[in-house]
Amino acid sequence: MITFSKDFLWGAAASAPQTEGAALVDGKSPTVWDKWFELEPELFYEGVGPEQTSNTYYQYKEDVALMKKMALNSYRTSISWARILPDGRAVNVKAVQFYRDYFQEMKSNGIEPIINLFHFDMPWWLMEKGGWETRESIEAFAFYAQVVFEQFGDIIKKWTTFNEPLVHVECGYLGEAHYPKVVDFTRAIQVGYHTLLAHAMAVNRYKNSKYNDGEIGIILNLSPVYPKSTHVEDKKAAHITDLIYIRSFLDTVVHGYFPEELIQLFKTHQLLPKVEEEDKEIFQRNIVDFLGVNYYQPLRVQRPKKEQFPAQFPSAFASHYDWPNKKINPYRGWEIYPEGIYDLGMRLKNEYKNISWYVSENGMGVSEEERFLDESGVVQDSYRIDFLKEHLIMLQKAISEGSNCFGYHMWTFVDCWSWLNAYKNRYGFYRIDLENQFKRSEKASSLWLKQVIVENGFPM
Ligand code: NOJ
Repeated sequence: MITFSKDFLWGAAASAPQTEGAALVDGKSPTVWDKWFELEPELFYEGVGPEQTSNTYYQYKEDVALMKKMALNSYRTSISWARILPDGRAVNVKAVQFYRDYFQEMKSNGIEPIINLFHFDMPWWLMEKGGWETRESIEAFAFYAQVVFEQFGDIIKKWTTFNEPLVHVECGYLGEAHYPKVVDFTRAIQVGYHTLLAHAMAVNRYKNSKYNDGEIGIILNLSPVYPKSTHVEDKKAAHITDLIYIRSFLDTVVHGYFPEELIQLFKTHQLLPKVEEEDKEIFQRNIVDFLGVNYYQPLRVQRPKKEQFPAQFPSAFASHYDWPNKKINPYRGWEIYPEGIYDLGMRLKNEYKNISWYVSENGMGVSEEERFLDESGVVQDSYRIDFLKEHLIMLQKAISEGSNCFGYHMWTFVDCWSWLNAYKNRYGFYRIDLENQFKRSEKASSLWLKQVIVENGFPM
């Protein structure tokens, strides 16, 4: 038997912009996604935009009932900044009421909400001023954080500031998957720096808030980096990739300072962001209580193909390596490597003060999942059950060796809208049809996980 502790948090993860719908209802102002869709709908898979989500704004009671049916004891979602503060200053009373009712509904059903503040959904009014590129964004975010701590701090005891902050930096400023889709490393570093500072300021506001008896953390996407070989050049490539993709965020939020090596690297390439004197102390004083870790697949690298700095930074230091032994998710193409979760857990134990952490996302996206619907309308997703099993075995191994993990959340509960990919890849325990986004239907994995939760484990 693979067993977990009685108080282990079992749940699913989602976000406001991917589930709520009601994009411009009851006073909510547009986010960057609402506007971008208005400007360039053709970029979104099958032309499906952020309005066509799973309708949680209206159907949260039904969803909470399904969570209960699945025996979940926790659930992660986020608050929409543009719903709470449509113009950045005045609190939207209807939004406060919605979130209070939603969170209360979870709690009354034995489900602990873990609430995140920012999930790639920059309000448009702030984007127009330059978004995270401007220093003003830091105080704007800290103010928003303070408002939600005041409004919901009595019922929410686990908070996170950002989901995958690396992603809005990388996809928005080094790629084209997020707005404003520019490729500029100097701007990307400034955005990353301001994001981290906004995070630290929000932690600070929480510590000084009226209801500060809970915990606050951040959700990072940590893909362990593996080199192609033990050759010094491949190892160096992995080392630098790790420094940029993992340690830049992880060291700063857990230890309270940037890795010296990273500072030197940016200095050498004249890429240091604009900083202010007080910043160092803000980082030092506001470290996290816990971490959420999103894990999907590892990063495999080898020495760079050719020097192409700075245009293609960080490919000047490393290039992708296609591991021949890799197991692939045939319906999405991503690597399946459950050992990665074990490696991460042990690293947090050994290098990050054995910090308290949980798996805030893990999951398997599947395209054209309707092909697995059986006659009774249930999606027979045995591939997802195998995926879950393999990852839970590795997670349990890390826990049994002392890693301080308190929970596991799958992405996601009900198939959700996923940015430019819209509904291309399905991840949910429940299926929705695009023709009827209000109806949820079961997948076999939800029944399997329920059994695991009830028994706190499963037979090997
Ligand atoms: C990470 C993100 O947090 C979420 O928004 C996204 O939809 C999932 N991964 C699946 O790709």
